[in-house]
Amino acid sequence: MVKIYVLRLGHRTVRDKRVSTHCGLVARAFGAEGMYYSGEHDSELERSVADVVSDWGGPFFVEHVEKWREFLKKFKGEKIHLTMYGLPWKESLGKLDAKKDKLIIVGGAKVPWDVYDTADFNVAVTSQPHSEIAALGVFLEGLSGEKKEFKDAKQRIKPSEKGKEVVRG
Ligand SMILES: C[S@@+](CC[C@H](N)C(=O)[O-])C[C@H]1O[C@@H](n2cnc3c(N)ncnc32)[C@H](O)[C@@H]1O
Repeated sequence: MVKIYVLRLGHRTVRDKRVSTHCGLVARAFGAEGMYYSGEHDSELERSVADVVSDWGGPFFVEHVEKWREFLKKFKGEKIHLTMYGLPWKESLGKLDAKKDKLIIVGGAKVPWDVYDTADFNVAVTSQPHSEIAALGVFLEGLSGEKKEFKDAKQRIKPSEKGKEVVRG
């Protein structure tokens, strides 16, 4: 089965903690295997996502990548860079190879130019500036949709019209 991974570029421990954590949570909810991140190593980011995996199930990993250019070059599969400068995401979806693993790259403050060259696809979720979390959510919904089964969850939500219903075990 095709596997989906996310690479979050240029993480800064103080400024990006919340955004990078949310990228991880969105990636997990929409079925990615895990999130790699470059920039500053951040144990707290890793722990926050690991806590969610522990409570709500997985599998899902977060792993820091030191040499992200090397990592990108070595990745076997399709590299899809989300950027407002890219081609419309709905058109790009039709060009992907259903048999190849995917690496979805999201940027930080400034994305180096070589990322645009190294990526197999530069894809825009609207040609307007917004957020890596939103772009990732919309694109993953189109690519794979919501993940239905999470292993080893300690709790699950029973969807309800009003209120909060959580089932333990
Ligand atoms: C704060 S934004 C920086 C915007 C950046 N100038 C760009 O190339 O999209 C950080 C990241 O959010 C994602 N992003 C923002 N707007 C997007 C859009 N319209 N389509 C796809 N990705 C977007 C990109 O991955 C970007 O690197």
